[in-house]
Amino acid sequence: MAKIALSNQTILITGATSGLGRAMALALAPRGNRLIVTGRRAELLATLASEIEALGSRCLTAPVDATDEGAVAAHLTDAIGKLGRIDVAILNAGGGTALRLGTERASAVAVKESMARNYDTLVNYLVPLLDYMQSVGGTIAYTCSPAGSFGLPKSGPYSAAKAAGRVLFDTARIELGHTPIRFVALYPGFTYTEGLVESEIPFKFLIIEKERAVRQMLRAIERGTAHAMFPKRIAWPVRIGALIPEPIRRWFLRQVS
Ligand SMILES: NC(=O)c1ccc[n+]([C@@H]2O[C@H](COP(=O)([O-])OP(=O)(O)OC[C@H]3O[C@@H](n4cnc5c(N)ncnc54)[C@H](OP(=O)(O)O)[C@@H]3O)[C@@H](O)[C@H]2O)c1
Repeated sequence: MAKIALSNQTILITGATSGLGRAMALALAPRGNRLIVTGRRAELLATLASEIEALGSRCLTAPVDATDEGAVAAHLTDAIGKLGRIDVAILNAGGGTALRLGTERASAVAVKESMARNYDTLVNYLVPLLDYMQSVGGTIAYTCSPAGSFGLPKSGPYSAAKAAGRVLFDTARIELGHTPIRFVALYPGFTYTEGLVESEIPFKFLIIEKERAVRQMLRAIERGTAHAMFPKRIAWPVRIGALIPEPIRRWFLRQVS
């Protein structure tokens, strides 16, 4: 896939009020881009916009609940109207909390909230962007997760939502492979962000710093890597785990959970 440089581009980042999205926006800010940053928390977007502009990029903010299809459609129309185009969209909104099925906390409402936060937020941007970029071209990157590779203890609703997003994104890549859209699926392993609850991670050595994750994500977008899963100490066990027979995987995951 053709490489691009993430400079002098119009770049949309969802989930930019904190964590990986915010860090990607700040890493892209010194490169003379036009950044469209979004999330629900307006005050955090205003702070981010000042930081981005001080670093040398133009910034458009919009407080949008990405589960609201109409609000997202209006946001995209407004952003394209104001900046003329979107070259790169990084669909990053989401996140997860530990939920063990069969417990009181894992109500149907809580399980579906995870799907809304991680899947609906993807779909509401992805569908109109596919329509828009089919003719003009561009890059769509999606922050998925290694957790979307198979069901994980305490992570079922999040894994299910990320698996749904992964399959949808893979299908878009197949069906729109003949168009000028580049598709990049990002699978960061455990990363220190505002969204990470460290006490829920079984092995601390698996967690990486946010700056490292951002470097790898932006490099993958520039190269057009179809699937970027990292770090290796997460990627290899996950790839092997996905290949082994389900009863063996189930036995292993029961031992470590
Ligand atoms: N950190 C990790 O270990 C890790 C690993 C793999 C994948 N990921 C994925 O990376 C992405 C970023 O996560 P993070 O760790 O950076 O978490 P984070 O700091 O909690 O950031 C999550 C972002 O998503 C936004 N968001 C959530 N629900 C939204 C909604 N309904 N509408 C609009 N924006 C919404 C939040 O903004 P508002 O609250 O302001 O709306 C926030 O900006 C997520 O998709 C997550 O699943 C994270």
